[in-house]
Amino acid sequence: MFEVVKKTELESNFDIAKLGFMTKSEIGEEGKNSKTYLVYDPQLDTELVLKKIDKKSFPDSLIYFKEARIVYSACHQNVVPVQYACQTEDHICLAMPYYKKGSLSQLLNVKTLSVGEILRYSLHILSGLHYIHYKGLVHFDIKPSNILINDANEALIADFGLTEKIDQDGLANKDVLYLKHMPPERFKVDRLSKSADIYMFGLTLYRMCTDKKTFQEQFEEVKLTHHQICQLMNEKKFPDRSAYQAHIPRKLKKIINKCLEPLPANRYKSVLGILNELSSIEDNLWWRKVPTNTGEKWIYEHNEKILELIVEYTNQERTQVLVLKGKSKKKILNETYEKSVLLDNLYKLFISADEL
Ligand SMILES: Nc1ncnc2c1ncn2[C@@H]1O[C@H](COP(=O)(O)OP(=O)(O)O)[C@@H](O)[C@H]1O
Ligand SMILES: [Mg+2]
Repeated sequence: MFEVVKKTELESNFDIAKLGFMTKSEIGEEGKNSKTYLVYDPQLDTELVLKKIDKKSFPDSLIYFKEARIVYSACHQNVVPVQYACQTEDHICLAMPYYKKGSLSQLLNVKTLSVGEILRYSLHILSGLHYIHYKGLVHFDIKPSNILINDANEALIADFGLTEKIDQDGLANKDVLYLKHMPPERFKVDRLSKSADIYMFGLTLYRMCTDKKTFQEQFEEVKLTHHQICQLMNEKKFPDRSAYQAHIPRKLKKIINKCLEPLPANRYKSVLGILNELSSIEDNLWWRKVPTNTGEKWIYEHNEKILELIVEYTNQERTQVLVLKGKSKKKILNETYEKSVLLDNLYKLFISADEL
């Protein structure tokens, strides 16, 4: 099965080994120069994910394995590991474990998260990002589709295709970045610091704390010209800081807003600063919104206690809020609120869940 052969035309100094794999399906959601496949590896008798990057996308062959080498050097429990790297005639291939739960982006498409879940994933992402920065690297592509979830429900940072090493001034050149997560300073300068990752993490956290359509719709509205997006970012209008879901604690909103500060100097100086502040959030960890046809529905599940909170819009100005308890759905609260004070009252109900 595993045959080592001498191959002269490709790399005369190396032994060239044959590696077989059987493509099962394509799994990537996006990606301009690469495609991601679920494959069967007959050598190891396992399923793996193979990222195939078109050789034409590299300016020269010396950097064919740059991404693979960076991932290999940044080995950490919250970074997706590379199992091996190899090349075909047209592609560079990176093999990694298959995470069947998929990406954070796929998760956010099907459910909204409780504050407890948001904090847990954030601590994993930040732990991986701290190590990446410690290794003198800036990831430059932190976004929900580049965060994968393993079987233990832990978040891991993936896709080091844009990662760069910083110089002694703490800066790296970066001309290509993902527009939706571009930090505002990129519109003015080419050399960026790890503060770009802090902005991108802030946006990832923002997307965990808002409705799945919110960010996409805002982006569709503002994607006029780079100049206009930059202006809206500097005025703190993009992304919209008032779009957070009702269960998000004020402290968490403040942390996200600080990560999204237009000037890097006003953001957290390092990932550790964010980690410290996130760890002090204790409010309202267990409520999460679930889909419903009318109004809004929230579920609280913790310590064997189950609550359901239903918001019904009775007319333009007034809303009715019901709280049901346990599997029998016993009605324990039935209140009507003016729409203008609904959010405040919802939050009060959320944080009093332990007494209900
Ligand atoms: N190891 C993996 N397990 C499961 N899904 C993966 C894995 N690696 C990548 N994916 C899926 O493929 C997508 C693209 O992979 P990524 O490495 O981000 O490549 P690209 O550079 O094309 O964005 C991810 O967003 C994720 O949905
Ligand atoms: Mg990606």
